[in-house]
Amino acid sequence: MSYNLLKGKKGIIFGALDENSIAWKTAERIKEEGGDFVLTNAPIALRMGTIKELAEKTGSEVIPADATNIEDLENLVEKSMEILGGKIDFVLHAIGMSVNVRKGNHYTQQNYDFTQKGWDISAVSFHKTMQVLYKKNAMNEWGSIVALSYMAAQRVFPDYNDMADNKAFLESIARSFGYFFGKDHKVRVNTISQSPTPTTAGQGVKGFDGFIAYADKMSPLGNATALECADYTVSLFSDLTRKVTLQNLFHDGGFSNMGVSQEVMESFVKGQEEK
Ligand SMILES: NC(=O)c1ccc[n+]([C@@H]2O[C@H](COP(=O)([O-])OP(=O)(O)OC[C@H]3O[C@@H](n4cnc5c(N)ncnc54)[C@H](O)[C@@H]3O)[C@@H](O)[C@H]2O)c1
Repeated sequence: MSYNLLKGKKGIIFGALDENSIAWKTAERIKEEGGDFVLTNAPIALRMGTIKELAEKTGSEVIPADATNIEDLENLVEKSMEILGGKIDFVLHAIGMSVNVRKGNHYTQQNYDFTQKGWDISAVSFHKTMQVLYKKNAMNEWGSIVALSYMAAQRVFPDYNDMADNKAFLESIARSFGYFFGKDHKVRVNTISQSPTPTTAGQGVKGFDGFIAYADKMSPLGNATALECADYTVSLFSDLTRKVTLQNLFHDGGFSNMGVSQEVMESFVKGQEEK
């Protein structure tokens, strides 16, 4: 269903790799709501993923940018304004990667070069993106910037590894930069803390299948899907949420406020009996 919530709005979407990506679903929903955008991803992801398909489908252009590289980001912001014919109304940062996770390094056995690369990609890239937008005065008043996070920023999920620290860093950047963007340009900055979702990044986490099933059983409304996350993001890009800023917004079917659910308790007891 479309409500034309983003009619006339222009933006930049980071992180659509393939059709499972949360950014992919968000791009499709934004298009349905009347928004226009430029798609971007790291050069290697453009070669490996299927972003061109999404670009054709949504009538969008793709501009390669490594989100850790300031020159790439400057080029991205300048070209986006040229293509879209003016300043930007919305930005989605849907980027995450831990080299320690990829290489199978335990949290207590990190390679710190990998750790640094991981936080640069997953957290500092959000600061860099906002700093480039801020310096170039590229955001329209009442614009909206969203990054995607996960609850391991607040609670312990051992297999999420150093991504937990990266997400805590990301959420803090949203608040700190959000203050200046709000004061100086009336732009809001928030993070959405999304349920575990079967995407390339999600499935990289050890034991993901158990993880996603457990979260689903714990949440009174079940896990939020990528499409539902796209819907929520559309609402945050719309004019209906103009005073929501500096927030980490849980979009998780209620998981974050649960202690235990009946279903989880029952399957635990059953497991105990079978021992
Ligand atoms: N899948 C989940 O369970 C889940 C849950 C909560 C939050 N998130 C977050 O959602 C966001 C999107 O991830 P997703 O699950 O859709 O997976 P995804 O793998 O589809 O997307 C991750 C994206 O990050 C991009 N990326 C990596 N390095 C980059 C770089 N240097 N420059 C630019 N882009 C780069 C990848 O190319 C990819 O498109 C991430 O921040 C992720 O942590 C995911």
